[in-house]
Parts: sequence; structure tokens; C-alpha cells
Amino acid sequence: MYFIANWKMYGNLKTLKSINKVIEFSKRYKNKKFKIVYCPPYTLLEAFSKKVKKTTIELGAQNCHFEISSGPFTGSISPMMLKSIGSKYVIIGHSENRSTGETDFQIKNKINSSMKSGLNIIFCIGETLQQRKKKLTNKILKNQILKGLPKIKKLNKILIAYEPVWSIGTGIIPKLSELEKNITFIKNLLKNNIKIKNSKVLYGGSVNPKNVKNLASIKNIDGFLVGGASQKAKNFIDIVKKTII
Ligand code: 13P
Repeated sequence: MYFIANWKMYGNLKTLKSINKVIEFSKRYKNKKFKIVYCPPYTLLEAFSKKVKKTTIELGAQNCHFEISSGPFTGSISPMMLKSIGSKYVIIGHSENRSTGETDFQIKNKINSSMKSGLNIIFCIGETLQQRKKKLTNKILKNQILKGLPKIKKLNKILIAYEPVWSIGTGIIPKLSELEKNITFIKNLLKNNIKIKNSKVLYGGSVNPKNVKNLASIKNIDGFLVGGASQKAKNFIDIVKKTII
């Protein structure tokens, strides 16, 4: 099971110390099978990198540029730069970036160069409330997957994060049956159309210590991408505990 903390545009050098408790926790339960990945904002990557060295916790970034190493792109960070600072993962295609103009084409290029640089990808997909009401969920998920994934080998290094846009930050989560059905749809699509057999699909959207046990009971779920509840160590640890213990 994967537990990925997406800190979004929150956090500073003071709040960084919340990771200490999570490091302690991960040492205590090191014989359990789970992986914790922290995706802080770029400004904290270096500090996090130092903290998680020699622990089982891994580091990820929240986005990157599609140019693999360097170039005249003001304000952007490349996959190789992320790699050089100790990042092993990168989130790509988050709906908060799609909604401000990120296209499937850009996403595909970002995934392509991140894969080439050796990063693991956390590829976000998900329908909006309007699309769900119009019963377009499968069509949207299919489009996002087929247009966003480059045609390259080794795509099995990709984690899919299914995040219904209407669940993000709203406190509303899908019915378990709906979630299970959508995860099955995603896994079948990856198997049949892209030949990824053992895909990993995580869920994201208002995951908290109260609802996680129920969510984790879904048989084909491989972990969680956690926003708000990942910022407090206690909440994040509770989410992991309630799933694995
Ligand atoms: P919340 O957990 O705050 O709903 O955010 C989910 C998310 O967007 C993670 O990427």
C-alpha cells in the first residue's frame, strides 16, 4: 500500500518537523508492507531530502517541466533537477494544474521526460462533478489515460492516482461500489489498451483517519494520495495505521 502526502502550496521550514513523528512511526512498523512518499512544495525538497535520508520514506515533487534537464523556462523545475535533489517521484496531471490550463499533451511530455530521468510517476486522473452527472466518467478517464500516457516501454513505473475532482477538499467521497467500479475500469483499460498488467491505482480526495478504513476495504485499491490530512503528522500516521494494522 502506498501513502503519498501531497502538501500542495502549504508548509515551511517550521512545519517540516512534523515529519519526525512519521519517521519514528515508519521505523517502528518497518516489518509491515507499506510505502510512504512525501511531496512537499519545491522550496522544502532539499530540507526534506536531508531528513528522509537513511529512512524508508521517499521524496516526491508536485509537478515538473517537460524539458528533461534545463532550458530558458523561467520559474520551472526540470525532472533532472528533481532527481538531483533526491526526489524519486513526481506528481503529474493533478486536477489543480489541469484546471489552470495544463493539457494532455503537456502531461504526456512531462511523463515522458520524467520517466527518462528515472523518476516514478504519480499520474492523476479524475472527472469533475458535471462530467459525473452526465455519466461521462468512463469516457473522461479513458481519454485522460490514452492521451496522457506516452507510448514508451517501462510504463509499469507509473502509479495512477484516481482523484474525482468533486472529492478533492470537499469532505465528500464516492460510494465504495462506485470507487471500486472506477478502479476496475482503470485497471482493465491499462491491461487491455496499454499492456500494463499489474497496475497500481491509488485513490485521492478527502481521505482522512475516519473514512480510510472503509476506503481501504476496497479489494483492488493500492493506496492513497492524501492532501489536507497529510499536513498533520498525527492524521497522516492514523491514516497509515488504520489501513495496515
Ligand atoms: P484532499 O485530501 O485535501 O482532498 O486533496 C486530495 C488531493 O488533491 C491530493 O492530491
